Amino acid sequence: MKVTLSIITLLGFIAQTSSAVDPGLAAWHLDNMYPLVSERLDPIVAPNGIASHLHRIIGGSAFGANYNYDQYNGASCSSAAVQADKSNYWMPQLFWRENNTYVPLKAGTRFYYFLHRNNINEPVKPFPPGLRMLAGNLNAKTYADTGLPTGALNFICLKNHFSTPNGDTAGPDFNFNIDCPQGLVTTVRFPTCWDGVNLYKSDGSHMKYTDNLQFGVCPLSHPVRLPGIMLEYTWQTYTYRPGVPLKDKLIWANGDTTGYGLHADFVNGWDTDILNQALNDPDCLTGEMTMTACPTLAMYMNAATAQSCQPERGALESFPDFQPIASLPGCNLPWASGSKPACNPAVPNPTLPASLKGTDGSLVYSGPSYTNSTVSPPNTWTRQGCIGGATSLVNSFQYSDAAMTQDKCQSTCAEWGMQYSGLLSGAYCVCGSDVDPGAFHYADTSCNSKCGGDQTQTCGGNGKLELFRNPSATTVNHAGITDPQYIGCRREGGNGHALTAAYINYDSMTIDWCKNYCTAQKQTIAAIEFGRTCMCGNSWANGGGIPYPQNQCNVPCKGNTSQMCGGSQITLSTFNLTLPRAGGSASSSASAPSSSSASASATQSGVVTITKTVTVTGACSSPATRRRNHRDLKFFADA
Ligand SMILES: *[C@@H]1O[C@H](CO)[C@@H](O)[C@H](O)[C@H]1NC(C)=O
Ligand SMILES: *[C@@H]1O[C@H](CO)[C@@H](O)[C@H](O)[C@H]1NC(C)=O
Ligand SMILES: *[C@@H]1O[C@H](CO)[C@@H](O)[C@H](O)[C@H]1NC(C)=O
Ligand SMILES: *[C@@H]1O[C@H](CO)[C@@H](O)[C@H](O)[C@H]1NC(C)=O
Repeated sequence: MKVTLSIITLLGFIAQTSSAVDPGLAAWHLDNMYPLVSERLDPIVAPNGIASHLHRIIGGSAFGANYNYDQYNGASCSSAAVQADKSNYWMPQLFWRENNTYVPLKAGTRFYYFLHRNNINEPVKPFPPGLRMLAGNLNAKTYADTGLPTGALNFICLKNHFSTPNGDTAGPDFNFNIDCPQGLVTTVRFPTCWDGVNLYKSDGSHMKYTDNLQFGVCPLSHPVRLPGIMLEYTWQTYTYRPGVPLKDKLIWANGDTTGYGLHADFVNGWDTDILNQALNDPDCLTGEMTMTACPTLAMYMNAATAQSCQPERGALESFPDFQPIASLPGCNLPWASGSKPACNPAVPNPTLPASLKGTDGSLVYSGPSYTNSTVSPPNTWTRQGCIGGATSLVNSFQYSDAAMTQDKCQSTCAEWGMQYSGLLSGAYCVCGSDVDPGAFHYADTSCNSKCGGDQTQTCGGNGKLELFRNPSATTVNHAGITDPQYIGCRREGGNGHALTAAYINYDSMTIDWCKNYCTAQKQTIAAIEFGRTCMCGNSWANGGGIPYPQNQCNVPCKGNTSQMCGGSQITLSTFNLTLPRAGGSASSSASAPSSSSASASATQSGVVTITKTVTVTGACSSPATRRRNHRDLKFFADA
């Protein structure tokens, strides 16, 4: 049987969700794929053991209970027509459940390899030897449970499929309340972006989806773009029970009756060189095509070999299509919600023959680098590329400067011990300690804003960060400042002061005077602005306290012009009074926040008597968040 679900139709559907112009539209599909074996083996999840449920497996004949690339790649045949591909692909077996019997359904099988890229220069790389991956969640009972992006699982009931327009019905799951006279299509799309390092991680974190399935961009953390596999099984529900609606009749091999337990697995057995040649053959990248139309792959096509290919290491068990059985293999009772039903008595497992056991391959890739990852030499800032907006950096803060340059931003990030420096929209600098694992990489041309302070440089793009890294920049260092209580030039609050316990203007302001004043107020942080205004508190308020570059605190203190007392607009020179003073121990005896009004009589050396009006702006009433969170800064971020 051969059901042809038009790839043009599919691509048309997908294209609606694609916003960016996509220069690479190539996709391959392979229709000549035959079942290899249906058995309870899962070399990924249950190496050298019995899998929890039955799988319907396609591909290389070396399939067994372990996975080792060399062994799989050396298989004598593949049940997929392209004999250069000794990979295995599988989904759970689907059963028809009626009157307490379970009937394994036959399926036509096919895969697609989507080769779409975010930009034409981005290579699609061959699967690394040893790669294995899963897509979907066998325990899911809703689409949200699957953790998959929209469109990664599809259920289509084929009806009048060959008329125009066709009568197919797409559904959220497999419980169609109609029959499907040409079959039930279930598809799973695998993630496309690889981290370049791990060949398998049980949490799946070695692979990521792009931001738009097979279109879109790979996250910065997963820079290697691989072919986007879509595995498609078309189940012959109509052969066993023609005319009967599917609703409440279908059950996956793990007992799931909702449909959402659909998942799929891939273990790589490709001949890497051949796949790489095909991925670089212009005649194979002209659009949507069958794999057979790709000249590089055509010479490896052999449908007859595929059709007769048998598991060379033997099979654990056999469940012929359409032969009813009394229960699902293993402990897999019907399961629609809640936790998985247990079996009482327990169901014994079959014995695993030695021929199906073996040694697992490495979980970490060790071949030539796929990424040429840019590790910066010490104390230099190295360009990392153009990534998503300000929220792409972790523990970040940002500020703007109309005369921004790359250098200014980098030196600010270094001052604050941040190894990532990102420029945004020509005027913003974002510093962060790490890159969000979900951050996306964009084409360099997306970072095309000229720096306000140097028109010959770029400073990011609209909502895009131009990212630099200096792995040595991890220690806070306010160069040239010797006061050990100094904690940097920081931003005033947005809607109210950054410190709210006490506030005073004084035309003879000095740093010591402000510190002493705040100590008298029993506060632990002192801050000065405008050369003459001192404020005190125990924690930052009103969004204040965000790091700024040292050179933005450049207004001399009114009472001692060789000291700096903040900036002229929004910046504060700040001091942590719980830190040791120069040449001595911590000065502060401050403890609990004080709500007393400011009656000033300083107690420290350099006693001051307050002669000016004291303005108390409010007690420190709310325990404001101490450390800013980059989410708070989102107002600057992605346009
Ligand atoms: C199941 O039982 C019902 C009622 O007896 C019957 O109509 C139906 O044909 C049976 N289904 C199968 C597959 O035998
Ligand atoms: C890595 O560098 C080598 C040598 O410069 C080059 O041939 C290869 O194409 C690069 N790989 C990537 C992924 O950029
Ligand atoms: C003014 O500040 C400088 C630098 O902190 C300091 O060395 C000097 O002693 C101060 N002068 C007075 C009169 O306090
Ligand atoms: C002040 O220093 C103390 C001791 O190192 C530290 O726990 C506290 O977080 C600092 N406060 C600020 C606002 O930097």
